[in-house]
Amino acid sequence: MTRKRVAILISGRGSNMVALIEAAKAPDYPAEISLVVSNRPDAAGLARAKAEGIATAVVDHKPYGKDREAFERALQAVLEGRRIELVCLAGFMRLLSPWLVERWQGRMLNIHPALLPAFKGLDTHRRALAAGAQAHGATVHVVGNELDSGPIVLQEAVPVVAGDTEETLAARVLEAEHRIYPQALKLLVQKRVQEIEGKSRR
Ligand code: GRF
Repeated sequence: MTRKRVAILISGRGSNMVALIEAAKAPDYPAEISLVVSNRPDAAGLARAKAEGIATAVVDHKPYGKDREAFERALQAVLEGRRIELVCLAGFMRLLSPWLVERWQGRMLNIHPALLPAFKGLDTHRRALAAGAQAHGATVHVVGNELDSGPIVLQEAVPVVAGDTEETLAARVLEAEHRIYPQALKLLVQKRVQEIEGKSRR
């Protein structure tokens, strides 16, 4: 089994990154975490990735100002330099332009802390509570051109319970995130292998 080379893109603490790293330690997991990239030099997740012996890179968006594509070209060069095959966005707080999304079509996953298509964007837990939602949760999806859009790979619902605050609800959702992200990456790898084998049989 050749394991797919995966890069995880982060901006912060990287707890989903850790869930993916832990899952990929299993000998039968079909992907290896080959690289962690942060757009923020101070992202806490970078230290954890290094401690795990994983290659890390920082592509700071600030020097590029409003030139999103220039930032993405620098990011793409890093990904290509490491021969990355799949990308997992894990708390990566940059909007992506069609330029990058098209290059990774069908090969880039994102995790969103809500049951898409509900509550796209930021502050999902606050908005779910304000709306009186009785169920909330997490979604892993293939990245499409619109924010928090694209085919859903896996979702897990969690209940909203009486007395929930943003923090208690976020913690419950985060546990679900850590369960579904490794499973969804595995599913994507298996699906892509099937597609490639299907093509070569034709
Ligand atoms: C997670 O809730 C993720 O769904 C959202 O940002 C948060 C990142 O957390 N996109 P972490 O950095 O993985 O701990």
